[in-house]
Amino acid sequence: MQAILLVGGFGTRLRPLTLTTPKQMLPVLHRPMIEHVVCGLSRHGVDRVVLALGYGDEAFRAAYPDGRCAGVELCCVVESEPLDTAGAVRFAHTAAGMDDSAGPFLVANGDVITDLDVGEMLRLHRVAGAEATVHLIEVDDPSRYGVVVTDPDGRVGAFVEKPPPPAPSRWINAGTYLMEPSVIGRIDGGRRVSVEREVFPAMAAAGTLWALRHNTYWIDAGTPETYLQAQLDLLDGRRGPAAAGVSPAAVLDAGAVVERSVVMAGAAVGEGAMVRGSAVGVNAVIEAGAQVLDSVVGRAATVGRGARVTNRTLVGEGVAVPPGQALSGARVPEAA
Ligand code: GTP
Repeated sequence: MQAILLVGGFGTRLRPLTLTTPKQMLPVLHRPMIEHVVCGLSRHGVDRVVLALGYGDEAFRAAYPDGRCAGVELCCVVESEPLDTAGAVRFAHTAAGMDDSAGPFLVANGDVITDLDVGEMLRLHRVAGAEATVHLIEVDDPSRYGVVVTDPDGRVGAFVEKPPPPAPSRWINAGTYLMEPSVIGRIDGGRRVSVEREVFPAMAAAGTLWALRHNTYWIDAGTPETYLQAQLDLLDGRRGPAAAGVSPAAVLDAGAVVERSVVMAGAAVGEGAMVRGSAVGVNAVIEAGAQVLDSVVGRAATVGRGARVTNRTLVGEGVAVPPGQALSGARVPEAA
């Protein structure tokens, strides 16, 4: 099975972290987000992943120079300008020379970390004779997602992006799709085309789109809150045995307190400092008496003595938070 992974977005919601590192190369626990995604796909029989790259493509090439990631063959294709989600699929399919006779292929948003059973999705797709099948997940508040209405056997009747309340369903597009090669023919070439806003609504109207409702572990790690949550879920053992948050290559002062947090290799936490519910990047320094609560400190950033960084603050790569400064829900530097 081949998969196209959409990883060419700007990741604006995670700025300033994404100003220096594309979203899927940001660390989740101790390795890049993309490795969690590719590992999940490889567990379900995906052996070749086409990376649909755009913004920050060099970072991916540099990280996987031998064209392999988590044991899977990578093929990198780069759009000269962003073509949006469907345009990117069409471009990647052609540029990677994907073979139509190979049958359906997977498409996944590169920031979706999930334990979806692709085999189950493939079975439904085949039995239904679907042209494309979408993974759906149930959420309490569907208003910021693509909401999908199906009939009892799974055929999609409507596909509505970010509907005003009341939403017609609590089942949302979870960002993993199976597509027959014929879907490529539905996507115009040479312009921006959205899977969610154009291609799937048209297919729903034509009755060729199906959905698998499957409530399994799923997170779209593209916001400050969910980027942090994806890491805390691994620490909390929500996806298997609880993972260790503190790298053996981090340096913690004997008088530092680190609770339910990720502290990456080369990072240092000083005397009397506290890190709780947070992620501290590679080579970052939390100086004595500083507090980092429910926040992300980027690679090689410094939180100065006695500073307080709280409430989903994002501290960008290499940034120095001055001693004593208090930041809550901030982005430093303030994102453009
Ligand atoms: P925000 O700017 O924070 O919304 O993030 P984003 O740019 O990543 O957009 P979004 O999360 O909505 O995109 C969903 C997935 O599609 C992500 O994995 C993106 O990397 C990817 N993506 C979005 N637009 C493009 C595009 O034009 N080309 C490619 N190749 N991928 C895209």
